[in-house]
Parts: sequence; C-alpha cells; structure tokens
Amino acid sequence: MGSPHWKRLCLLLLAGLTSSLLLYTHYYTTVESPTSQRIIASLLQPEPLVLAPSGTPHRRWALGGSSESGNSFKPSAELEEPEPSRQQPRTCLHSVMARAKADPKFGEIFRFDTPVLMWDQHFTLATWNRLRTRHVPYGWQGLSLAVVGSTLRLLNASANRHLFDRAALPGGCVRCAVVGNGGILNGSRQGQAIDAHDLVFRINGAVIKGFEEDVGTKVSFYGFTVNTMKNSLIAYEEYGFTRIPQAKDLKYIFIPSDVRDYVMLRSAIQGSPVPEGSDKGDEPQKYFGPEASAEKFKLLHPDFLQYLTARFLRSEILNTQYSSLYMPSTGALMLLTALHTCDQVSAYGFITANYEQFSDHYYEVEKKPLVFYANHDMMLEAALWRSLHRAGIITLYQR
Ligand SMILES: *[C@@H]1O[C@H](CO)[C@@H](O)[C@H](O)[C@H]1NC(C)=O
Ligand SMILES: *[C@@H]1O[C@H](CO)[C@@H](O)[C@H](O)[C@H]1NC(C)=O
Repeated sequence: MGSPHWKRLCLLLLAGLTSSLLLYTHYYTTVESPTSQRIIASLLQPEPLVLAPSGTPHRRWALGGSSESGNSFKPSAELEEPEPSRQQPRTCLHSVMARAKADPKFGEIFRFDTPVLMWDQHFTLATWNRLRTRHVPYGWQGLSLAVVGSTLRLLNASANRHLFDRAALPGGCVRCAVVGNGGILNGSRQGQAIDAHDLVFRINGAVIKGFEEDVGTKVSFYGFTVNTMKNSLIAYEEYGFTRIPQAKDLKYIFIPSDVRDYVMLRSAIQGSPVPEGSDKGDEPQKYFGPEASAEKFKLLHPDFLQYLTARFLRSEILNTQYSSLYMPSTGALMLLTALHTCDQVSAYGFITANYEQFSDHYYEVEKKPLVFYANHDMMLEAALWRSLHRAGIITLYQR
C-alpha cells in the first residue's frame, strides 16, 4: 500500500461525500425467512434447465457487464494485483480442478481464475463504476460509496485474500466438507467422516449440540448473509440454535447480499456496535465472539457471485417477476466456494433426488417437508449437485 493508494482512496472518499447525497440505499430484501412469503415448487421447473455453457448469451439476465462478456474491466496495475484465488496443488491427484478441467461439460463452466474474495485493494474507481451498475449481491447498485469503501478498507490483512493458508495444512490435498442442514443427516452417523476433513464449512442454522454423531463438531467456516444468520437464530432457536458458532480458528464468510452485510462486517472488524441501518445497535461480538479483527472475516466478491449464478445456477426464476429476488441458496454458495478453493470437496446435508423422504432439517423431531422459497431454485441446485457428483467433482452424501 504505497501513497498512490492513499491518494486514490482520499479522492474516492471525497467523491463519496459528494455523491452520497445522490445515492440511495437499496434495501434488497430476500425472502429466506421462515415466516415470509413462500412460493411452492410450482414456480420451479420439475426438470430444470441445465447449466449454461460458456459463451451462452446472457438472455434476460440483466446483471450488467460481467468480466466474461469482455466488458472493459482492467484492474489498475498497482492496486488490483491479479492474485489467483488458488494455486495449483502440487501433489493432489483427482483434485476438483483436475477433474473439472477434464470434464467436457464442466471444463467449459469452471473458471478457476475468478476472484473468490474481495479485499481492500478491490476498492478502486474502476471497480466502483463497474459494480454500481449491478444490483446486490452481484454488485453495489444503490449502496453508499462511503459504506462500501470504509468496509473494504478494513479488509487489508493477507488473510482477507484467501480463504485459508495452504502452507498451514498438512499433505498435498486440502479436503473440505460442506455441511448443509438437510434432514438426510438425521441418523446418518457421518460426524466422524465430516470432522476428518481438513476444513469444514457450515451455514445458517447449523445445530451441533445433540447431533455430534450425525454432523460432527468441527467448524472452520461459517457462511451466511446477515439476513439468513439472524433469521436462523429466530427460526431454529427451538432446536438449540441459540448462537452463531464461535471458536478461535473459525472464520466467517460474509455473503454481501445487502448493504447491511457491509455495515455489519465493518462493525464486526471494528468491534463496535452497528451505527446505522436495519441492524443499528447490534453488537457484533454477540454473533462472532470477542475477537474483532480483519483476519476473522472473509467477504465473497460480487463478481464471484455473478459468475456462480450465471454459469452454475442460472435459474428459470430469472425469467419471472421474481427475478430480482433470485440468488443461489447460502448452502449452494458455500459449496461452490469450497469447489473454487479446496482440492477435494464432500457435500453433506444437501438436497438429493430422494429429498422427499427426509425432513427439511436434520434437527426436526417431526418430519417437515422441504420448503421452497421464491428466491432460490432448489431443483436446479439438486440437479447441479447430482451432475457434479456424477462427474466425480464432488462427493455428495446420499442414502
Ligand atoms: C489495516 O488497516 C488498519 C486500519 O486502517 C491499520 O490499523 C492496519 O495497520 C492495517 N494493516 C495492514 C496489514 O496494513
Ligand atoms: C430424527 O432422529 C431422531 C432420533 O432417531 C428421531 O427421534 C426423530 O424423529 C427424527 N426426526 C425426523 C424428522 O425424522
């Protein structure tokens, strides 16, 4: 971070002060809430659209200039170092990357050089101008430059640039388990197998107490949007989800689906109460524990979310009146994050072809049918997991 960086930052902040009058805050309300509007499967195609191969035109998908459509985003040399999100593993046979590249269909879909995380050096005028044309979670449309800028500025630790430090993990292959909360895990006795992975990702209402045998106890990453995190604390409290997982080595992955994610992340790093917006007054320590530091938090890059949606989960919902609400589920985003960072990935508790046999979540005592929300496309996600499993790119737990 030389002085050019600071000069540019000052200019940007100055611009922010003047332009913030013109900007408004766009509250993107997702409907991933147990009590809110839900649209049952009729909205969704029974046999959903398959994956979009590269080069497919962006039909009605109005996310604006994506890097893949050749839109002129040139990172300014000294600020946005091209830092691949992962290095080629040296001694890992059968890695996700190797298998994906060898697969005729997925070889065309995966782009392993897409940045996964966002950090301070992404805060440039070029990025601002590009991302302000796309709505959240794919961009910054309607967000205040001051909020985005002051949040990204804090993500300046080397830990903010990669999900994990490869050198700190033993062996040639980084093996990851991503644990969804599906009812298939009830009675599965997969706890030991899950914990045997190098890294374990969990999401939303990840109840552990009482389910150790089935889901294990290890948590390396907890992924969420502030909306899904807070909804989980309310909806699953009765099942014992009374606090967000906390541990010394646990890292939090923020999915920036709303301005409140940026605001909460900033306060979490600063260790101070949320000063504005819908979470005003919240104490981040209540969720994330006493350690407030940039190292503890990761932020998914809006370009990564755009890439995942456009290439892996381009739903037919995008052609309906609900298109602006649509985004892949938290579980899908975490599983795809693992696929772009780990060498081997197992998925537990994700939707399978026989999902009707299982309860919505593993901790329910009485069977509840899986709930389909208008903002997700679980059938499309199910088809994706199935075909990734068939291609040998993930191991999907099924029974
Ligand atoms: C990151 O930013 C904070 C606050 O501006 C500063 O105190 C800290 O020294 C910076 N850390 C690095 C590694 O640059
Ligand atoms: C989950 O397993 C427990 C223990 O076997 C059982 O009591 C409970 O009914 C199961 N829940 C569902 C929804 O099947």
